[in-house]
Amino acid sequence: MSVPQQTFLRDAMRRLNMTREAFASRIGVSRRALDTWLLPAESAESRGMPEIVERFVNEILTRPADGQAAQSAYPGSGCPIQFEGRPQLLSVDQFSRESAEDLFRLADIMQPIARRQKISRVLEGAVLGNLFFEASTRTRVSFGAAFSRLGGSVCDTTGFTFSSMAKGESIYDTSRVMAGYVDAMVVRHPERGSVEEFARATNIPVINAGDGPGEHPSQALLDLYTIQREFSRIGKIVDGAHIAMVGDLKYGRTVHSLSKLLALYKNLRFTLISPPTLEMPAYIVEKLGERNHTVVQTTDLREGLRGADVVYATRIQKERFTDESFEGYTPDFQINQALVESVCGPDTMIMHPLPRDGRPGANDLSTDLNHDPRLAIFRQTDNGIPVRMAIFATLMGVENLVGRSMRDANWKSPAYIGVDDAVFHGID
Ligand code: NCD
Repeated sequence: MSVPQQTFLRDAMRRLNMTREAFASRIGVSRRALDTWLLPAESAESRGMPEIVERFVNEILTRPADGQAAQSAYPGSGCPIQFEGRPQLLSVDQFSRESAEDLFRLADIMQPIARRQKISRVLEGAVLGNLFFEASTRTRVSFGAAFSRLGGSVCDTTGFTFSSMAKGESIYDTSRVMAGYVDAMVVRHPERGSVEEFARATNIPVINAGDGPGEHPSQALLDLYTIQREFSRIGKIVDGAHIAMVGDLKYGRTVHSLSKLLALYKNLRFTLISPPTLEMPAYIVEKLGERNHTVVQTTDLREGLRGADVVYATRIQKERFTDESFEGYTPDFQINQALVESVCGPDTMIMHPLPRDGRPGANDLSTDLNHDPRLAIFRQTDNGIPVRMAIFATLMGVENLVGRSMRDANWKSPAYIGVDDAVFHGID
């Protein structure tokens, strides 16, 4: 809380024009409890007000009118990330450039926790439900780790086989049941629009961790956060940048969300490089055009990469094809050290949402770039933690408590987490 609880409560009573008695009854606590929260902090009788009370009072203060109470009876209705009035994250369309950058400021505040120098218990007592009905390593674990590092705990369910959806349970029922058990849900599901269905069934925070070929907003946010941090280190800005996206632009939800988020900036040049059958959906290309960005679509990787500030490679989303004929990229689509040396500049960033397909014939982003400092893929994955912490803190209404909640960690982590990390890994 940014102000002392006594100030907060007095202000609330004044704004609601209520006596202590009426206010205590309105928020469902005893008059005695309210009195102890209002006592000066140094008094022996003073008690700390639970955070849930703060959220509830804030909700009353932001509620438009009594008649609408039934629709807005959940905390977080003043949350800067909202879907249909609820604190939920389903699409990057919910962001403006300003609100994305507000989130990045909060992610910067989270960095000492992500780097294990500090710890916080700001979400102590809260439980996250991680519902993954599609394969995932980094998204599932990083959401879980982000929530845990803020002091919460995590319950996981993975795949359809081990969930009651295998018994025919609907999304609505699953979501409503889970909402009774947990305080926030992160959902990945193979169908576009499915996570919205989860979100509409509950008032608790729901985050879209990938809905089939639809969106993956948290990935796009951490990608843009990574681009901004690296650009600021090398003196570039996002406005006017040249972004080359390579590969399965049709089914890759990360490039769909990232394109829309980047479109909030000015005068970008997008070079979209893909096999003809895997081109970026027309609605996204049109959106980029409407915002006056330059879009070039090509099958020529070598020419497409020339002059790019960012090269964003993607995996072929084979699991989304009904036709099994498309096995992998031809070598013409592989980004490797030789190609990067010949067409990319010394500070081109090479990104990939991962996983990269390392199987023979896949021709995904080559591992021969692992020692090249331009390869930003692990800086991207590392940034998943502070960005996802910032998302949770915002959706759970604790963003103003984080800074003051931090204390030193008792243990030490290595300065470089990966043995191949480049010299500037993680440097601001
Ligand atoms: C991506 C996904 O699942 O959309 N991975 C991720 O979340 N980092 C990309 C992919 O699977 O290719």
